[in-house]
Amino acid sequence: MPVEEVSEDNGLHVALIMDGNGRWATLRKFPRIYGHKMGIEAVRKVIEAAPRNKIGMLTLYAFSSDNWKRPPEEVTHLFSLLKSYLRQEVDSFVEKGIRLVFIGRRDRIAEGLRAEIEAAEQKTRYGEALIVRIALDYSGREQILMALADLPCATPEALSFALSGVGKDWPVDLLIRTSGEQRLSDFLLWECAYAEFYFSPIHWPDFDGKALGEAVGAYLQRDRRFGSIKT
Ligand code: IPE
Ligand code: IPE
Ligand code: MG
Repeated sequence: MPVEEVSEDNGLHVALIMDGNGRWATLRKFPRIYGHKMGIEAVRKVIEAAPRNKIGMLTLYAFSSDNWKRPPEEVTHLFSLLKSYLRQEVDSFVEKGIRLVFIGRRDRIAEGLRAEIEAAEQKTRYGEALIVRIALDYSGREQILMALADLPCATPEALSFALSGVGKDWPVDLLIRTSGEQRLSDFLLWECAYAEFYFSPIHWPDFDGKALGEAVGAYLQRDRRFGSIKT
């Protein structure tokens, strides 16, 4: 099935590299962790705005496997923010029909948080209004290697299904990175084969529904050709 058909059936798949929490905080003379806390508010706004922007799947880069290189206090704080976020949001996700799925490694996540992640996935599993995937301890290269090791027959379709975590071939339509950086940082390498890229100068804590709408608006002006030409 051509890539564009898969995407349009289900809504857009938008992937977000939520960058700039630390710089946002430093600019305001706050500790970096305050930037992460405020970043959670931006996550709320973006999830709320996703359905009216034709988004069916939102993949959020929350913690890369390379982020383990950060100071342990920052790492601990990030995981505790995630834990309280899950506790606060899961019931409202169920109400709103939002399905929550985690991608990335789980074996290095503390047992307590891992149990909450699995419970959140279970509770929200029938959600059909929007799929929110959270990439945690995530490395695109490693995910590809691990999926290939488990596949009896490595076809592009089989690999796409295995990587999606939702049993669907759903490539990224639009990749947004905030805070002015213009790189992938090992995110969704396979899934971004034909993604449109949008780089915003806004630091993540200041990103909101309006900024998301502008990014989707820019995407809708793009001419996606998938290697073909107009006939
Ligand atoms: C993104 O913000 C959040 C994570 C990577 C967890 P950063 O923490 O990377 O913020 P900057 O890039 O240092 O400003
Ligand atoms: C990428 O941001 C990871 C997340 C947003 C979770 P980083 O801030 O870690 O990426 P680099 O180090 O600038 O490439
Ligand atoms: Mg960063």
